[in-house]
Amino acid sequence: MSDTTTNPVANTAGLRGATAGDTALCTVGASGSGLTYRGYEVTDLAEHCNFEEVAYLLLNGELPDRKQLDAFVAAISNGTELPAAVIRVLEALPASTNPMDVLRTACAALGCIETENSFAEQYTASIRLLGCLPSMLLYWYHYSHNGKRLLCENDNPSIAGRFLQWLHGRQPDPDHQRCLDISLILYAEHEFNASTFTARVICSTLSDLHSSVAGAIGALRGPLHGGANEAACDMLAQWNSPEQAESELLSMLQRKDKVMGFGHAVYKTSDPRNAVIKSWSKKLAALAGDSSLYSISERVEEVMWREKKLFANADFYHASAYTFMHIPTKLFTPIFVCSRVAGWCAHVFEQRNNNRIIRPSANYIGPELRSVTPIAMR
Ligand code: COA
Repeated sequence: MSDTTTNPVANTAGLRGATAGDTALCTVGASGSGLTYRGYEVTDLAEHCNFEEVAYLLLNGELPDRKQLDAFVAAISNGTELPAAVIRVLEALPASTNPMDVLRTACAALGCIETENSFAEQYTASIRLLGCLPSMLLYWYHYSHNGKRLLCENDNPSIAGRFLQWLHGRQPDPDHQRCLDISLILYAEHEFNASTFTARVICSTLSDLHSSVAGAIGALRGPLHGGANEAACDMLAQWNSPEQAESELLSMLQRKDKVMGFGHAVYKTSDPRNAVIKSWSKKLAALAGDSSLYSISERVEEVMWREKKLFANADFYHASAYTFMHIPTKLFTPIFVCSRVAGWCAHVFEQRNNNRIIRPSANYIGPELRSVTPIAMR
């Protein structure tokens, strides 16, 4: 067997702590700042910007002025309509399909119809994805669940506002729209997380943008990554009071179950996105007259810290905030896609700009060299 004790890679399961490349897009957990996008604290961006400004920042490197923002918003809004072939694909997918599979499939289908033929098209292809990922999701959702064909009209210039309007069929509550807008900012970018790294690996082969994004959607789907907000929601929905939540949570911890929405691969004491979405969850709880879900969530957060020193990550209070906006649980992670696509595309641009195919080595732990025994003799 190979000697794993002398190879440092053997002790870095999940590549934790390994630096896999350069980026000018984002810092996560760097000293003095929790999370920055192109040098701005995410909390600063969440306070002063909308999601479209942040998407522009990620894709272009600087925040837009008014004229640049208006043009960017108009370009996204002009890209909400779906090609007929993509609609046919969406209509063929049953209501039981995982919505992340719907987005992965629809993104791949769009790549067949509006193929990115050269890297010169990467910017317009990215704007198109920002415009039509919500259309794909909600067209499929309404058609498969109610047989209704959604008209993906750009009746609201904000992606967040349009999403809520298309979902509920009415003008969104301004607080709900702003909360979803901020949520999109919080989810937009996070350095070399699993889905972004997937996108970079794919595009490092000089593959196309749609393949990179479709692969990233597949990586985001799992409960250890984007799927945690849905899993946290399902967990919270089982409990009717903070007392019941505490007692069942203690049993979960005793069984060494993973509690979704807690812990992080990079942050060690807190996730800077949590305070922002938590305060919005509290605000929406008060507006909704909620007397249970928010207090249960707070108790879970207290117990996790008291018992395990594990903190709520960005996903935990998204569960309650989205619930207060009447967003169905299965659409939580797909909303993450509609946001993170900005970060994925920016990373594709960056990788292509200074590309070398990503091809690490493995620490071999298999059998020593041996000879094949012909099948008749095995
Ligand atoms: N619930 C219970 N225990 C947890 C936990 C959680 N959410 N997160 C970490 N732990 C435990 C681990 O099992 C490990 O225990 P061990 O040493 O007894 O094996 C210990 O805490 C340290 O884990 P750590 O090395 O910090 O985690 P990681 O880097 O391997 O994994 C996550 C990071 C995010 C995958 C992990 O925290 C997790 O699975 N969280 C839940 C899923 C989630 O919310 N994902 C969204 C991330 S934004």
